[in-house]
Amino acid sequence: MNHDVIKARRLDHIRPFHVMEILSEAYRLQAQGQNIIHLEVGEPDFPTPEVITQAGIEALKAHQTRYTQALGIPPLRERIAEYYPPAYRPGIERIAVTTGSSSALQLVFACLLNPGDEVLLADPGYPCNQNFIRCYNGIPKTIPTDASAHYQLNAQSIRQHWTEKTRAVLLGTPANPTGSIIPDEEMRRIAATVRQLGGVLIVDEIYHGLVYEAKIQSALHAGDDIFIINSFSKYYGMTGRRLGWMVTPEAYQADIEKLAQNLFISPNTPAQYAALQAFSQEAQAEFEYRRTILRQRRDFLVSALGDLGFAVPCIPGGAFYVYADSSRLSDQSDELALKLLHEAMVGVAPGKDFGHYRHQAHIRFSYANSMANLQEAMERIATWLRVSPTN
Ligand SMILES: Cc1ncc(COP(=O)(O)O)c(C=O)c1O
Repeated sequence: MNHDVIKARRLDHIRPFHVMEILSEAYRLQAQGQNIIHLEVGEPDFPTPEVITQAGIEALKAHQTRYTQALGIPPLRERIAEYYPPAYRPGIERIAVTTGSSSALQLVFACLLNPGDEVLLADPGYPCNQNFIRCYNGIPKTIPTDASAHYQLNAQSIRQHWTEKTRAVLLGTPANPTGSIIPDEEMRRIAATVRQLGGVLIVDEIYHGLVYEAKIQSALHAGDDIFIINSFSKYYGMTGRRLGWMVTPEAYQADIEKLAQNLFISPNTPAQYAALQAFSQEAQAEFEYRRTILRQRRDFLVSALGDLGFAVPCIPGGAFYVYADSSRLSDQSDELALKLLHEAMVGVAPGKDFGHYRHQAHIRFSYANSMANLQEAMERIATWLRVSPTN
């Protein structure tokens, strides 16, 4: 009998999500009675607002548990369309409700890529993006970015790295792991450049509500030919309900719909009914309050990390992460992350999760945790730095 395991070659290039490994090690330590502070996870610590939870419960009681239309229930698609200002509001036919933004990203790549097509991305960036591209036989082409470029691609770097194989550019703003933002003016330049080069622009706006000082518009203002990705996970605090959305350029609408029918059938039904309340005044007031709390945490964390010897050359303008340069403390950030977990009892995400460029010099700290826990975590790291003979 042949016991060979048959596997697709693409698996050779798909890397595990290291932060999940740190998280399971943290849970293992917790099960042994250790008290771990989790700054590794990219998930809001706030509960979903009650008004959304109640709407979900009501939907379950009303047996709203069957499949819906592949692109989601019309009232939710309407509410999402209304989220965009009238000047560039899309019609509901361009809105697709999805199983988190993760499935929206997969739909886009399934729709756009032929084998060997390249997609430009910033390094550092959200790790799953490269794997989504590979799953649809594309080639992620990462471009090193640093603080001098605010960790983002711009019109110039896109033009510089464009080849005859490039089909698309994927940007995140605010970005994970750096929290950096692309100003509107630059977004318009990028959109014009990608259009001129004959490619497609995809903008991940999953952290869009979580912007602290800057005023930015959705990239939709820069053209109706841009794929806009968003989610109920982060600003709306609904990670586990697995609900997101995208705005599709008209030319791709029918293709996205047929892919959604086949790949996912429909998004989670009770979650869609719950999400109708995400745009209610009550929920919005709660989200805005949370945004002020997150900003205070960011300010605390950036300053505390600086005192500990980390460098934060760009103040993150959004999301809930600080991508700190740890090179003054260690030249191996993955070892440093493990030591912080085992010896200081603080979970953090090592740079290697987010790319290759100077990844050993960076650690991502998430401030989706209470101020008390952030303060305690910084004290633990300070104590560890004083007493550890090995760091
Ligand atoms: C930049 C970015 N995009 C997409 C996702 C996927 O989120 P979801 O599928 O929960 O919408 C995440 C999750 O952390 C993220 O950070």
